[in-house]
Formats: sequence, structure tokens, C-alpha cells
Amino acid sequence: MPEPFMEGLIPTMNHRGFMSETTDSYSQKFADYAGSIDAEVLDIGCAYGVATLAALENGARIVACDMDAGHIEVLEGRVPPHRRSQLRTSVGALPDVSFPTRTFGAILCSRVLHFMLGDEIKRSVQAMADWLQPGAKLFLVADTPYTGFWQSVAPEYERRKAAGEEWPGFIADVAPLLGGKLAEGNLAYLNPLDPDLLVRECQRVGLSIEECGYTGHGADNGEGNQHAGAIAVKPV
Ligand SMILES: C[S@@+](CC[C@H](N)C(=O)[O-])C[C@H]1O[C@@H](n2cnc3c(N)ncnc32)[C@H](O)[C@@H]1O
Repeated sequence: MPEPFMEGLIPTMNHRGFMSETTDSYSQKFADYAGSIDAEVLDIGCAYGVATLAALENGARIVACDMDAGHIEVLEGRVPPHRRSQLRTSVGALPDVSFPTRTFGAILCSRVLHFMLGDEIKRSVQAMADWLQPGAKLFLVADTPYTGFWQSVAPEYERRKAAGEEWPGFIADVAPLLGGKLAEGNLAYLNPLDPDLLVRECQRVGLSIEECGYTGHGADNGEGNQHAGAIAVKPV
């Protein structure tokens, strides 16, 4: 695994942000829930497996999927031998990756959706809803406009949200916020989300909301607002 960029944050190999070395509250709830059910679960955008490894330790059977084969290779090397039979891996990217419908007892998509355009988010949430068994749960986490480099344009997000824009956090050109230039492979845009937007997209595809809110690591190590989370349930 690459060296941390700063304490607790491991850079991805494909310039899709950083994997946290610890689970946020929503990813931890996924890991706990995954260990409590018999059905196989999915961690999509798993990176080096922070949530997958926690779920495996809880006894879950899990498919870990990421768009970057290098991340999956690192994850496979981190799995203790006695947990390997619980894990399947897959390389693929939302919204086009495909799994059979009504397959999983739970799905985690943590800190992936904000790398997508609005229509891709809609297609991804629809696809994940399709892959859930009836009664199964979708756990979503996304970076908010209050995260890291994007905080300086958070007032613009607040203004656009108040004006009713569909994707109020969308940043068309992130380069100025990253010191003026993009690393090769870095996306030019970003689509930070908030809990309301996660709820809206889950409800659009017929899921009901069990829980939603801000999460993250606050200055006092309490909950912060860097991440938005939602847990949604597929009707039986
Ligand atoms: C910021 S990291 C988050 C990793 C981890 N899920 C977490 O919560 O810390 C984003 C991860 O999602 C993957 N990813 C980004 N866009 C994706 C997509 N469209 N489909 C699948 N994986 C994607 C990246 O390769 C990277 O491993």
C-alpha cells in the first residue's frame, strides 16, 4: 500500500482521492451489518479495503470491487489467509459495471459518487438498487463541499443549493483549488454531495431512508461534516 499522504489518508493509485485508514460511522455500520447477515455483500470503490477488511473480520461474505486493478491487488495481499474464502474480487467501474439483480444483502459505495457527473450518479444508484435483494440495505458515503481543498467554494455551494440547483456542489474545474495544475489522470471536475442529495437519489429509485446525515472526523474527533452518509432500504 502507498505511504500515507497525511496521517490516516492513503493516496489512491488512480488520482481518485484518498482512502481513509479508519472507517467512518456509515462504513462501520455497513461492516457490522454485513457480518450479521448470511447474504453476500458488495463494497464498490473499495480501494485498499478499509471497509472490506472490517466486514471480513465480522464474518461477512463480500465482493470487493474497484475500477483500479492495482487497488484490488493490494487489498488481496492484506486479507489474512483464514478470511480469504469469504472474499471475491472484481475490477469494474460504476455506472457500467454489472452484477446480477437481487444478489446482495447490503452494498457500500463509500466516497465514490462525488467523482461522477449527475447522470452517472443516477445510473449508479439505480444499478445498486437493482443489485440489492428485497429488504437489503444500501450504504452511501460521499465527500461534501466542506471537505479538504473544496471548502473555499462551499459558500458558492450554499448559494446554489438555496437557489434549488440539482447538483449545487459541482465544481467544473478543480485545478485552481489544487494549486493550478492537475496530476495526470486527475479528473477536471468534482461533484461534492450532501445528505439531502443522497436521500433524493435513493428515493428516486424507490429506496426508503433509514438514516442520513453528515459524518467525518471533526476537530474534536467527533462527527464532522466532511462526508455525507445515507442508509437506504429496498422495499420487500
Ligand atoms: C476516495 S477513494 C475511497 C475508498 C474507500 N471506499 C473509502 O471510503 O475510504 C475512491 C475509490 O473509489 C474508486 N472509484 C472511483 N470511481 C469509481 C467508479 N466509477 N467505479 C468504481 N470504483 C471507483 C477509486 O479507484 C478509489 O479506490
